Amino acid sequence: MQVNNHTDTAVNSASLFTACSINDVLSSLKKIKIMEHKQKPSGLQDNLKLFSPIKLGRMNLTHRVVHPPLTRLRANPDDSVSDMMIQYYTQRASDGGFMITESVHPSIESRGYIGAPGIYEDHHIAGWKKLVDAVHAKGAYIFMQISHDGRQSHVDLSNGKTPVAPSVVPFEGLSFTANGWVPVSPHRALDINEIPSLVEQYRQAAIRGLAAGFDGVELHNANGYLADTFLQDGTNKRTDAYGGAIENRVKFPLELVDALVSVWGADRVGVRISPSGKWGTISDSDPEATFGYYAQQLNKYGLAYLHVIEPRVMGTETLDEGRAPVASSFLRPLFKGPIIAAGGFDRNDAEDILQKGDADLVAFGRLFTSNPDLPERLRENLPLHDYHREAFWGGDEQYYTDFAVYSEDTVAADRT
Ligand SMILES: Cc1cc2nc3c(=O)[nH]c(=O)nc-3n(C[C@H](O)[C@H](O)[C@H](O)COP(=O)(O)O)c2cc1C
Repeated sequence: MQVNNHTDTAVNSASLFTACSINDVLSSLKKIKIMEHKQKPSGLQDNLKLFSPIKLGRMNLTHRVVHPPLTRLRANPDDSVSDMMIQYYTQRASDGGFMITESVHPSIESRGYIGAPGIYEDHHIAGWKKLVDAVHAKGAYIFMQISHDGRQSHVDLSNGKTPVAPSVVPFEGLSFTANGWVPVSPHRALDINEIPSLVEQYRQAAIRGLAAGFDGVELHNANGYLADTFLQDGTNKRTDAYGGAIENRVKFPLELVDALVSVWGADRVGVRISPSGKWGTISDSDPEATFGYYAQQLNKYGLAYLHVIEPRVMGTETLDEGRAPVASSFLRPLFKGPIIAAGGFDRNDAEDILQKGDADLVAFGRLFTSNPDLPERLRENLPLHDYHREAFWGGDEQYYTDFAVYSEDTVAADRT
């Protein structure tokens, strides 16, 4: 479990987007290990802000522990929702809690991972509706995250179509196919005439999400997927209306937001970003300017929330155990709506960021995978199950739906 040193006064908004070296990233990737999750001693037992109510868009939440998008690659072969998935989300739904689905694909060619679910055909709606109904029955709310994976893809997943990006920039990432993790296929730059049909894909996905009964949708504008590659200048080298100055680079993401808002209304749309995140080998020459400008552009909508991944985490890995959260505090004065902070939080520093006012809710990713009753465990400061990284990406029920809720005997039976 990472320990955040909040006395580290060297960390401030000026050092917000300090880039990690590639060696930091590689050495972090190598140290894949099961981390121990023990609750730190805390005097914060009662009256936690984490467990105070908040209105998020149209939703009246009773606590601020958010289930963020977590791709687990257990959809049916036709990309529809599996029974296992319904069980997983139902287990993690809590009364008055807020959940966001794993990335959901708006088209076949937008897929980057086999086993990730889709919403690109009408027959996908029924499975999502069952899942949403089950989550609602437990009193929780749920948004669907929509993601075109862009250049993080492979022709085996896209019916042979070449992955797309704003520009061709060398990229050595991995995609998850029927053959496991394989190098991504080379990508091509999108023609400007193709962009309206991509926006339309998102709009159609949003319409299907509405039919499935979700409470809203989240634009995946993080972690180097398609929208993010347009936003950041390390991957956007276009010279047309969608590239160059930040005013142009936000154009595609804002067209996506427009499309989602046209279906749902702004107060049922959220946007996820990962300023200075390294997943997908994404980069920007001036992240403060890029993300600051984008956040301010988003203000004009009155969105449900901005979901901010801290740069101390790269996708599924903590890069910098000792680093305090910096992205939410940078964006707080710029973005006028609620902020969900994500990336490396435990109970104490979640409460800390809420008390400081730098965020309004906190997402817990890896900890939610192994603690279906995470809100209750955090509320009561109970021990946590360790997560099992080997079961993150695909598999069966093991380490997916077989984690017990807290009781004295289940803690003793914890397999970690
Ligand atoms: C297995 C796994 C799958 C993930 N899938 C997604 C995803 O589909 N969309 C997304 O925006 N983030 C995804 N993330 C990132 C998480 O939402 C979250 O930002 C990350 O785990 C850091 O939070 P944590 O430190 O609380 O785990 C994933 C993370 C994990 C561990």
